[in-house]
Amino acid sequence: MTDLIQKDLTYNWHPYTQMSVQQANPPLLIEKASGIKLYDVSGQWYYDTISSWWCNIHGHLHPRIVNAIKQQLNTLDHTLFAGITHKTAIELSERLISITPDGLQRVFYSDNGSTAVEVALKMSLQYWRNSDRPEKTKFISFDRAYHGDMVGCMSVSGESDFTSAFTSLMFTGYKVPSPYCYRCPIGQKKDECAIECVSLLEDVLREHADAIAAIILEPLILCAGGMLIYPASYLAEAARLSKKYHVHLILDEVAVGFGRTGTMFACEQAGVCPDFLCLSKGLTGGILPLAATLTTQDIFNAFLGPQGSEKTFYHGHTFTANPIGCSAALASLDIFAEEGTLSNVQEISCELRKSIDMFKDHPLIGDIRTIGTVAAFELVKNKKTKELLPGHDNVIRKIYLKGLENNVMLRPMGNVIYLFLPLVTTLEELKDILLKTKKSMA
Ligand SMILES: Cc1ncc(COP(=O)(O)O)c(C=O)c1O
Repeated sequence: MTDLIQKDLTYNWHPYTQMSVQQANPPLLIEKASGIKLYDVSGQWYYDTISSWWCNIHGHLHPRIVNAIKQQLNTLDHTLFAGITHKTAIELSERLISITPDGLQRVFYSDNGSTAVEVALKMSLQYWRNSDRPEKTKFISFDRAYHGDMVGCMSVSGESDFTSAFTSLMFTGYKVPSPYCYRCPIGQKKDECAIECVSLLEDVLREHADAIAAIILEPLILCAGGMLIYPASYLAEAARLSKKYHVHLILDEVAVGFGRTGTMFACEQAGVCPDFLCLSKGLTGGILPLAATLTTQDIFNAFLGPQGSEKTFYHGHTFTANPIGCSAALASLDIFAEEGTLSNVQEISCELRKSIDMFKDHPLIGDIRTIGTVAAFELVKNKKTKELLPGHDNVIRKIYLKGLENNVMLRPMGNVIYLFLPLVTTLEELKDILLKTKKSMA
């Protein structure tokens, strides 16, 4: 064990990690990154198959983003964003508004995915208060959702290891069964479904809409819930219901925004414009922490009043609209515009759909799901009964370790092994990743 790892074990506390077992399973010491590869100190390399926690989209150290950051550091590093503004934030907002669905006209910046969601929840709640509907305080969310680790985010997420220690802090709301097509909540078959499960959402709205501020959803993929991919028609119907019952629609595109599912934003595939769109992760190309919550002019207007008005949105963060983050985000959008990123995603997506069949005879793979640059394999004990293979099963740990030996970073989520590939992955790299993944699961 190197001195540095020894120091890591002495000083650091890692996220989502049982630190008592770190001594036996020390973290990888990564020293450099290039393209879609990470290199550790021993010289071993790994495909960054999960895009460094779902954020790296253009590969590591993309020169355009690196240069933009360097340029920005010649002029303005950071300033507060109340009573002060700056060119990079103004330009970024204009660009974001031009590429997101038409109704979104205002941008509120924060630091990460969780804050983007908290901002949307608070804005929705206060909108109703400012509009003389203070009784609309509840949120509807999926029972397997994951929206982040802050208290509001946890409250609208599903029950899980992430939330169980904190339930005393969380507020209550309405949870509807997730559109988990492999284990359909209403027993439909995947190929014969007409998204009847959306009726479960309407049941809650019919009964409680007067008390509901918003529906919050992860569009097309419930990511941390196990990469559950569901049809765009569900999303379109949820949007229709949100209008019918006068509740906001919050779309959390923190993980799927910026090309992940094949379109710039997942909601485009359902032709939906939400009342709030939450963005982070890929916003800066996955290089710097930055988040944005976009909303409509109508919602913005409900917060207007005289100086000191209680209608004001009293929320902010020290690093709101940090200029370096904004400059990285602008460079990332330039890459999308000029380097054919989305057409590369289409190619990857096509190849993934074609090649994924090579996994179908694996004795433990019960379901294979794919969209955009995402592929997920749900492991089961028994393919017929779909009995779960416990998430902490040795088999899963072995797949992770074999993945490392085979140069692929397969960080399992419960009983799901998945690929969440950088959007710049080439077809040759994809083929190699699939072969290495298969070998690691053999
Ligand atoms: C859909 C979704 N929302 C919110 C978050 C929280 O983002 P962050 O980890 O940046 O706080 C995540 C993180 O994975 C996510 O997947």
